[in-house]
Amino acid sequence: MPNSVIINKKIKTFKKKIYVSSDKSLSIRCILLAAQAIGVSKVSNLLESEDVLNALKAIKKLGINYSKKKNIYKIYGFGLNSFDTKKKITINAGNSGTLGRLLIGLCARSKNKITIIGDKSLSRRDFSRVTNPIKNFGTKINSKKNCLPVYIEGTEFLRPINYIENKGSAQCKSAVMLAALNAPGITKIKAKKSRNHTELLFKYLKIPIKIKSNKNFDEIEIKGLNEFKSFNYEVPGDISSSAFFIVLTLLSKKSNLIIKKVNINKTRLGIVKILNKMNAKIKFFNKRIYNGEEISDIYIKSANNLKSINCPANLNSSAIDEFLVIFLVAARAKGISTFKKLNELNKKESPRLDISINFLKMIGIKVLKHNDNIKIYGNPNLDLKGNYYVKNFFKDHRVFMMSCIAALVFGGNWKIYDRDSINTSFPKFLTILKTLGARIFWKKEKI
Ligand code: S3P
Repeated sequence: MPNSVIINKKIKTFKKKIYVSSDKSLSIRCILLAAQAIGVSKVSNLLESEDVLNALKAIKKLGINYSKKKNIYKIYGFGLNSFDTKKKITINAGNSGTLGRLLIGLCARSKNKITIIGDKSLSRRDFSRVTNPIKNFGTKINSKKNCLPVYIEGTEFLRPINYIENKGSAQCKSAVMLAALNAPGITKIKAKKSRNHTELLFKYLKIPIKIKSNKNFDEIEIKGLNEFKSFNYEVPGDISSSAFFIVLTLLSKKSNLIIKKVNINKTRLGIVKILNKMNAKIKFFNKRIYNGEEISDIYIKSANNLKSINCPANLNSSAIDEFLVIFLVAARAKGISTFKKLNELNKKESPRLDISINFLKMIGIKVLKHNDNIKIYGNPNLDLKGNYYVKNFFKDHRVFMMSCIAALVFGGNWKIYDRDSINTSFPKFLTILKTLGARIFWKKEKI
């Protein structure tokens, strides 16, 4: 079978400092905004993974050039509403929901016909959550049963909208924010709390935006613009990529780890809040504000008295990409952990809630599911000896990486398929694991 890795040894004690990949959400947003700014934007430390490279290819199709020298990408923007495309183009968003959905907002005013396609996993995900609000701006959009391909025909005459986002989806909120930039007048958004990178970037770029924060919702007002200027940006490390190493350290013996220069934006810290409630002692030091985002070094050490959690559902959005590894901690914790209202988790690159439940059962953990709530019966003595195979997970990068972490901390003999899935978000994942001493084997196999 192509592309599998073999792990049959637990990781030994490690004490190291690492850098993880750059933030994917910020990398994609920087590219899409630079494509609409006037002048040359310089973005350094951009994540060079397939999702982000697809964002660069997308703006190229929209007539925007870019170049790379050393660690810096230059993006040559001509301003809002300046995309110069052929009459009909097709953009491939690959595996990335963020790219596919934000592009729909970005292209809301585009003169020519644009088709957005994606890979097998992206093509089964719902796009109506974004096409519905963007249609209200006046853009013509068609799709195949609310999924990709999505056909967009923009209009010069966008009208601002009032929009309520109630899933806690930053992708929906951000798509509307990008379209709002191009719609004369004021677009009003009431959005359930979710990651706020687009808002912070708008502020950093001096794009007029008003935000009123309430307990569960933010009220956002954006005024359609004529132009905004190009910018320089250095992308910090990704908390979602850090999550795998945080959990690896917590569940390993007598280890500690420092992860340098990570974005600790409060809307992304669900994992830290959840794990600290479970007795992890994750600490931040060297905190500083950088380009409007808060970044920090993170210190983690092994924990040997993890306890279960009754996880408040209001942390779901801020931990949405990290639940796969949070469940591994619940599997090792003392007591029964409860997670609620996880419906959105089944709408990711793979049905992650269902996949997690099967995974936990495979490693002998009792899990009960009721609607989209689950109970995980932790076992502090979890120590595996059997053979485990992980395959058929829609090439979901995070399922692959979670499985490697499980193999390295719980033991057993593992074969994990679809190694190339990591290229979408974290191509250096296995290399970093090896620097920590992990023994992982693979060979080029014939198909
Ligand atoms: C993202 C938002 C989240 C997250 C995804 C990245 C973003 O999706 O799961 O990996 O960059 O806006 P939703 O907005 O659909 O929750």
